[in-house]
Amino acid sequence: MQNADQRDLGVRLVARKQGIFDKCFIESPMTSVGRHNEEIQRNIRLWKKKPVLNLIYRNFHETIARQLPNLPAGLVVELGSGAIDITETIPQCVRTDIFPNPWIDRVENAYDLSFPDASVSTVILFDVFHHLRYPGTALSEIRRVLVPAGRVIIFEPCVSLLGLIVYGIFHEEPLAMKQPVQWEAPKSWSPADLDYYAAQGNATRIFLRQGMPIADSGFCMLTTKRISAISYVASGGYSKPQLYPDRAFPLMRFVDRMCDLLPDIFGTRLLVVLEKTVK
Ligand SMILES: C[S@@+](CC[C@H](N)C(=O)[O-])C[C@H]1O[C@@H](n2cnc3c(N)ncnc32)[C@H](O)[C@@H]1O
Repeated sequence: MQNADQRDLGVRLVARKQGIFDKCFIESPMTSVGRHNEEIQRNIRLWKKKPVLNLIYRNFHETIARQLPNLPAGLVVELGSGAIDITETIPQCVRTDIFPNPWIDRVENAYDLSFPDASVSTVILFDVFHHLRYPGTALSEIRRVLVPAGRVIIFEPCVSLLGLIVYGIFHEEPLAMKQPVQWEAPKSWSPADLDYYAAQGNATRIFLRQGMPIADSGFCMLTTKRISAISYVASGGYSKPQLYPDRAFPLMRFVDRMCDLLPDIFGTRLLVVLEKTVK
């Protein structure tokens, strides 16, 4: 049997042969879940080299924080916190991930949460939803731990015209726009069977094109908002070159506000808020 390293090497070799069409429309071959932690450790190093990213993520977290007032009592939990500290903006948030990194409050898998039923008021998924191979199965587990009228706040890549170019061409993860979304896991699957899955187009397809049974899953959609975030894409994120000097950040924020007027063209980030309904 192949070990994980051999499989990863195989995946990288196959990925190199993939063209842009494949990257936009189909998902990547299977990779071990450990790749997430490799990326987390890499992002910590890159984060320190790009001060502007700190400002950008703070803005994103403030957008999420604005969804929190007037929620029922209960914990605020982030799943898949990775390397970034959301508690700088939302101090009460419990930071979790599938990897026991030292800064994480507790280890949690979106498919198998350790929280009791109806104990959490809000679950935040920041760039995590497109890594969930079976989003319906994860949402059903999240619903279990939410109090009545509790919320899921999802922040994801948005596939507008600009989003298609940015994520389709310049980001290593696939958009997978033509790959069928597997809403629910097969019966034989277990939450311990995690692999590295990425389909950046999933949130756009599921929440903006409404291709999936959200209402049947016991949620109603309260908000979908496309955000231009030109300051983010032009920062190059973690791994690509920054296209503007740090001192131009206030100007870039002005550009963001102008481009927010045309979200079909310029939306690159998608905010979704779901509320738990009574089935
Ligand atoms: C792209 S990173 C995002 C990290 C962080 N939220 C951010 O915005 O920088 C995806 C994160 O999701 C986590 N993740 C992947 N599958 C998960 C699962 N089944 N349950 C919880 N977290 C998961 C990964 O470990 C990783 O930290």
